[in-house]
Amino acid sequence: MNQIENVLHENRHFPPPPEFQAKARLSSEAAYQRMYRESIDQPDAFWGRIARELPWIEPFQKVLDWSNAPFAKWFVGGKLNVSAVCLDQHAYGVRAQKPAIIWEGEPGDSRTLSYGELHLEVCRFANVLKRRGLKKGDRAAIYMPMIPEAAIAMLACARIGVAHSVVFGGFSAQALRERIEDGACTAVITADGSFRRGSVLALKPQVDEAVKGLDAVHTVFVVRRAKNPIEWSKTRDVWVHEACAEASPECTPEPMDSEDLLFLLYTSGSTGRPKGIVHTTGGYIVGSYLSTQYVFDLREDDVYWCTADVGWVTGHSYIVYGPLANGATVVMYEGAPNTPHPGRMWEIVDKHKVTIFYTAPTAIRAFMKWGDEWPAKYSLATLRLLGTVGEPINPEAWIWYHKQIGHERCPIVDTWWQTETGSIMITPLPGVTSTTPGSATRPFFGVDAAVVDEAGKELGPNEGGYLVLRRPWPSMLRGIWGDEQRYRDNYWSKFKTMYFAGDGARRDEHGYLWILGRVDDVINVSGHRLSTMEVESALVSHAKVCEAAVVGRPDALTGQAICAFVTVDTGLEPDDRLKQELMEHVAKEIGKLARPAEIRFTDMLPKTRSGKIMRRLLRDIAAGIETVGDTSTLEDFSVLARLRDNEE
Ligand code: WTA
Repeated sequence: MNQIENVLHENRHFPPPPEFQAKARLSSEAAYQRMYRESIDQPDAFWGRIARELPWIEPFQKVLDWSNAPFAKWFVGGKLNVSAVCLDQHAYGVRAQKPAIIWEGEPGDSRTLSYGELHLEVCRFANVLKRRGLKKGDRAAIYMPMIPEAAIAMLACARIGVAHSVVFGGFSAQALRERIEDGACTAVITADGSFRRGSVLALKPQVDEAVKGLDAVHTVFVVRRAKNPIEWSKTRDVWVHEACAEASPECTPEPMDSEDLLFLLYTSGSTGRPKGIVHTTGGYIVGSYLSTQYVFDLREDDVYWCTADVGWVTGHSYIVYGPLANGATVVMYEGAPNTPHPGRMWEIVDKHKVTIFYTAPTAIRAFMKWGDEWPAKYSLATLRLLGTVGEPINPEAWIWYHKQIGHERCPIVDTWWQTETGSIMITPLPGVTSTTPGSATRPFFGVDAAVVDEAGKELGPNEGGYLVLRRPWPSMLRGIWGDEQRYRDNYWSKFKTMYFAGDGARRDEHGYLWILGRVDDVINVSGHRLSTMEVESALVSHAKVCEAAVVGRPDALTGQAICAFVTVDTGLEPDDRLKQELMEHVAKEIGKLARPAEIRFTDMLPKTRSGKIMRRLLRDIAAGIETVGDTSTLEDFSVLARLRDNEE
């Protein structure tokens, strides 16, 4: 049997706190069931009704056309403009003065833009883009720090029908160039620089290098932020503040077909070139609008903070499009979470009275490592809901988040989704779902998730297998840019009629889904397929361990053996005794089978820039071979060298 065994047992359950439930948008199991059933049994009625809550320029004729599967068309024939959905409906109404973006710069400067102001800024920016010849059907790359202009640039593109391709500001010139070329972008929007860890991080020089010799890029728009000296091309470069000062604050939104391209967003697979994930207009905005509303139980007076960078899909759907479509107030922060001190995030929560806080497990584990004293300095009393995304969250980190940040009062939504899915797919609903640490719980509306075996047959309770989605959903990717075959191969070939997400999962006896990580990360020890996530969780549950990454290395006897890379609490000197202690700890928590054959201590783990552990690299180190393949997404290269030095 090729199933993934599940070995982690978690019995703690947390029902929605009654005070939370009393005011929640959705507060009973019956109400949830009613909505979920309708979304599955009568999807056209369900999605049609939700979609009609948005201001369409022309109504759609048909909810879904799946006749050309796996290429979906949603809200067929409808026309709308996403920037009008996010701005005009609020700016011309009761929300004109309501803060849309509350921004905090790393040096401590801050700015608030009301919906009325954001609308004007976006229109001006859109007119600046137009003046340089950008028009519907073009594509522009956005390479920006976390400043309001990043969101303004995205919305300005959407307003005039230019598709954006946001490239995370930490990527190298080479990575940026590849993405500009692949997407055939004709302009780049960037900033001079930004503030990061107390110094200036220059961006413009990377852009200069990236577009060198690329004649197709006719304009580089530069936002002034850090005022660092930069080189300037008189013919190609445009200062945004100068051009905006002369631009009209009126700009009619371009009527976009529901299936017109809204954006490309590149994501790296474990092999090969990065994939340009294609998202279109109508379905994407409906999916991000609905999920933001229900998953975060959004209310008019919420101050919502998602800590992701706009360079990731989480920043697209849950900083910009989803919250603004709902008229929410979002917080945006420019800098590092521990600058000037490890309590910076909590200081911002108190300063701006944040009510909803959405972050990633990797950040939570860093907060744990920095010490409980930091959050303890702040009241955090305004928080009412917490969220996590990006990786399976170890139960230990979940509990810490629940106690130290949520003060045992805030529900935690562990949300599973992907760049490809566009919006949240598996998640608790905070007023309804009883949560359990480490489980993303149940599918969101319209999501038909299943766990299947190699042959595509649905598995029973607690049998680990492949996570699939059995029907199309509005915010699904429409393809991989320029590579139809790769789209089919990657997502629709393992199981012909089901979307294969690449993740392993199991469904427990209560129907809750547990994500077991990427299937490429599964380890096979003596014929037992173990999820790296579960062994890591067992390690992290030891009091001295902060973070752990587990990989398999070839073993003559057992096929693969478990090799664990472990970081310990600050100030602790790990030794052989601790190694033994950890091995026994895992054996006790999960069983002898999962006892690591080898433990290596390290002060850092190699991560992608969005915080995911790069197990592929660790596998090479564990096996003692030179790393091959793409390391362009690795955050800190020196980590690799240091891990090698620790070999015995
Ligand atoms: C993983 C981020 C467990 C998963 C929105 C998925 C998660 C990949 C969770 C997508 C979660 C994301 N629990 N695993 N709550 N959320 N993942 O494209 O492996 O950056 O396939 O999208 O992250 O990562 P991406």
